[in-house]
Amino acid sequence: MGFRKDFLWGGATAANQYEGAWNEGGKGPSIFDAALAGSASKAREYHSEIKKGYYYPNHTATDFYHHYKEDIALMAEMGFKVFRMSIAWSRIFPHGDEETPNEEGLKFYDNVFDECKKYGIEPLVTILHYETPLYLANHYNGWYSRKLIDFYYHFCEVIFERYQNKVKYWLTFNEINCIAIGNPYMAGACRPVEGVSMNQLTYQAAHHQFVASAKAVKLAHEKYPQFQMGMMLGGLFFIPDSCRPEDMLKFQELNYQQFYFCDLQCRGYYNNHAKALLKQKGVGLKMEEGDEEVLKEGTVDFISFSYYMTINASEEDNPELKLAGSGIASKKNPYLIATDWGMEINPKGLRYFLNELYDRYQLPLFVVENGLGAVDTLTEDGKVHDDYRIDYLRRHIQVMKDAVDLDGIDLMGYTSWGCIDLISAGTGEMKKRYGYVYVDRDDLGNGTLKRYRKDSFYWYKKVIATNGEDLD
Ligand code: BG6
Repeated sequence: MGFRKDFLWGGATAANQYEGAWNEGGKGPSIFDAALAGSASKAREYHSEIKKGYYYPNHTATDFYHHYKEDIALMAEMGFKVFRMSIAWSRIFPHGDEETPNEEGLKFYDNVFDECKKYGIEPLVTILHYETPLYLANHYNGWYSRKLIDFYYHFCEVIFERYQNKVKYWLTFNEINCIAIGNPYMAGACRPVEGVSMNQLTYQAAHHQFVASAKAVKLAHEKYPQFQMGMMLGGLFFIPDSCRPEDMLKFQELNYQQFYFCDLQCRGYYNNHAKALLKQKGVGLKMEEGDEEVLKEGTVDFISFSYYMTINASEEDNPELKLAGSGIASKKNPYLIATDWGMEINPKGLRYFLNELYDRYQLPLFVVENGLGAVDTLTEDGKVHDDYRIDYLRRHIQVMKDAVDLDGIDLMGYTSWGCIDLISAGTGEMKKRYGYVYVDRDDLGNGTLKRYRKDSFYWYKKVIATNGEDLD
């Protein structure tokens, strides 16, 4: 049996981590343009403005803006069927709340999509990948403000109309659960407000994103029936730390906190679990007339998610999850090996969660992020021998195959993360690399930005050519 004939093989990126050219072509800054680099043990620091004398890694990133032709040609050489990317909101609307879009920004993405078309590569566009315009963070407190629903909707109106014949696959928000779990500033551009609990703030902001997403999906379904609209869940997947009944319940509780987001975007209403969760967290949601209807009318067509690791759930752990490096602090799993950045590698867990998601929602699934962040060494003769990455990817693809063959999961595609090296979202480092293509750039911004094919490049090319049959 194997993967479907039209399986969408490819790679994933995000504008803020990849594109660079942060202030070229009329672009305004996004929240990530004012973020310093951190490390596995040090969180990134976010400034409210670009200050002199600091190095901001996302400003240049790996410069897709000036390398898009070369990079898309490399993707085509690997046989990509799909390229996941995002449209930088502040390239189209520098502040985010303008009426008129920036033509130069729109034109850039026209060029990118045309280049993809040349090679028969379908773009998969994330409408918002952690890159809310900085102005909206500073002047509205990001997604805590309901006004962002309208700004985002207008952004969607413009890009849907413009790219209706070039883009078919869309994701409304990257890792939407991370606004409430993990990183409210990165995912929601909202800062703490005095007198408002963090739970109240982030779940309210998440509600605004649900409404915005539903409105965008509804617009797409009504006006552009050729579009396929997806949600994107961040892979915070929990497994029980032990067979203790308490750990079983904790494991269920923490996973339900993630499914909350799928329930809202796939089923379109606050169900019993959602209501219980809000009550338990002391959240009183402010809803407006029409919200319930639009949530119902704007449910998505497919579910996409990222999968890097699993996290142990234990009754003794602090349930308020803490980000560590790019992972989540939890009890160590003695059966798993962690990456240098603390993500515990668990390919079998992917099969479990593919089944879980498919059983719950009966919607096609799409793995839109997966991969190994590791330090690579470029040899003198321009090679990167990344067998560790090949091993990681092979084990996950094998599991996806099992889920398709043995469990009958409807899987649309696979886009591994950071197909061409880019800046880490969690730490802002360059040395944490995921790609099939090495980019000459270091943590301090040195390097020629020249591209080199890694060993994994040739391996992935073969995987795609055989539709996942040859994983050796
Ligand atoms: C996902 C994000 O959480 O994980 C990406 O959608 C991110 O933006 C990826 O880059 C890997 O995490 P990190 O911190 O290693 O870049």
